[in-house]
Amino acid sequence: MTLQSKAPRSRLDPEPMARRDWLGLSSLWTMGAALLFGVVGMLRLPKAAVLASPSKKFKVALPETLPAGEAFVPPGRAVAVYRDAEGTYAVSTICTHLGCVVKANPEGFECPCHGSRFNADGTVSRGPAPRALPWLKVQLSGGVVVVDEGTTVPSGTKVA
Ligand code: FES
Repeated sequence: MTLQSKAPRSRLDPEPMARRDWLGLSSLWTMGAALLFGVVGMLRLPKAAVLASPSKKFKVALPETLPAGEAFVPPGRAVAVYRDAEGTYAVSTICTHLGCVVKANPEGFECPCHGSRFNADGTVSRGPAPRALPWLKVQLSGGVVVVDEGTTVPSGTKVA
């Protein structure tokens, strides 16, 4: 004789689940949820951080009124383009010390990072920059100036 009284079971009541079955089902649900979260997490991973870089070759529309010996810096480019009586040329504005972008001024260029100064032809007038600013390849194509940032040319190379 038991001390607990059992209420009579209705035939509409669900079958009681065995503990072993319940543990098996809950572990299955846990595995499914972990798999789902893993897939969602992988889908949300950031895309590759490599972005397409702009072409090293680009066209420059020099202003008609650009005075001889005055730098024209195309927006978004680290290049100064000049036009004088001997032709058109381009000087990189990447400092040869540690790679800051130099600012053009009437005397040439000045580096905002460590104070190097360059003449308008790119030669160093004050260190710590170890080398002159490189000259870049320029082509004239149908009256349009095409600068190739990826190709250096000897200093003094101008195209007419
Ligand atoms: S990066 Fe230009 S002077 Fe150092």
